Amino acid sequence: MNKRILLAVCGGIAAYKSAELVRLLRKQNCEVRVVMTSSALKFVSALTFQALSGNPVATQLLNAEEENAMGHINLARWADLIIIAPATANIIAKFSHGLADDLLSTLYLAATCPVYIAPAMNQAMWNKTVTQENIQRLTTHGIKFIGPEQGSQACGETGFGRMTEAKDICLALLARSQQQNLHNINILISAGPTREPLDPVRYISNRSSGKMGYALAEAAEKYGANVTLISGPVILPIPSNIQCVNVETAAQMHHAVISRAANNDIYIGAAAVADYSPASLSTSKIKKQDDDSVIKLQKTKDILADVASLTKRPGFVVGFAAETNDLERYAKDKLVRKNVDMIAANWVGKQQGGFDSDENALQVYWPSGNKSLKMTNKKQLAEQLISLIVEKMNEKSTT
Ligand code: PMT
Repeated sequence: MNKRILLAVCGGIAAYKSAELVRLLRKQNCEVRVVMTSSALKFVSALTFQALSGNPVATQLLNAEEENAMGHINLARWADLIIIAPATANIIAKFSHGLADDLLSTLYLAATCPVYIAPAMNQAMWNKTVTQENIQRLTTHGIKFIGPEQGSQACGETGFGRMTEAKDICLALLARSQQQNLHNINILISAGPTREPLDPVRYISNRSSGKMGYALAEAAEKYGANVTLISGPVILPIPSNIQCVNVETAAQMHHAVISRAANNDIYIGAAAVADYSPASLSTSKIKKQDDDSVIKLQKTKDILADVASLTKRPGFVVGFAAETNDLERYAKDKLVRKNVDMIAANWVGKQQGGFDSDENALQVYWPSGNKSLKMTNKKQLAEQLISLIVEKMNEKSTT
């Protein structure tokens, strides 16, 4: 990553996790400087961060040792990026209201570089209206939040408020620093379900909401890519800066994707395309019979496999695998059988994740490896997947 990162540690039990963050960031060739609030010093000693970062830790607003006694300005100027981890409700409130009564809040006001916040607090404090308003306010000012995560908390309660694990914060920062890596890259993404009509009023479809594919489109756009989204019928707003082509059936989606594939560098098939469609379409409403009825289905064309087998195909082709059992076996089979560069596999039909949920987890496979992207909201997951795609695409182009 090769960045100058300023890590600000606030007072919270999660402060100990930030020590690991320093180690991980240095492993990414980052130079790290640490600022600690007075409450943070009650949880972890400054010496820990000094030893791990290899730099003195700043704790005071007015530092007589700085030649112009303006440590906060110097640190703000020095940093390429600031991450506050853990960030308490108190520091979020101070940032939101422009208070500047200690080193960190003053430094924040003086900073012009990107600022990231990894909150950690009790779930009730996180859910409090005023905290959410402060977060909203900071978001509109361009501050990016990483987490918090859901789970059991040190206070014994369960809910949102756990600080994101150090490795995931590092991954998120890495992804942001690569944001411009997709500049001038064209990405084609399919999303949502398809509808296979039986007659003018009935169709066969599935539970896909389009959330995963739309989140991928937004993440790719954020990374600087030119994104074309081929969308089945969903009720999501079209993300800004994205060209969206609406289709209904698997055949229409096939045509929309294949006719554009050659002009794209990456294809991501996140749509839940029907594998079968009714063999015949009745032009009038099918009437109820006295006895049971049978629908004859015919196989649809496999869009993903067809994209991958084009003579002029996108340089990197990513498929999904939605499985209720034997996830790894089926995902690896799809990777080989459809001749793609990556398969992002998810469990479906479970209580959490997969179809129509706001959250998901992915087990990602490529020919020489795999990686787990753990359960999180689809927007964050999409950024992690796009980051992984960028990494593996770069590897592919250099081998
Ligand atoms: O839309 P959400 O509610 O957010 O849910 C997200 C999701 C579960 C739909 C998504 O994460 C996902 O798994 N999408 C792929 C669903 C699917 O159809 O999986 P599959 O295992 O049946 O298909 C494997 C791959 O082949 C997929 O990339 C699919 O797009 C592609 N395919 C399948 C059939 C076909 N005729 N053409 C295809 O291109």
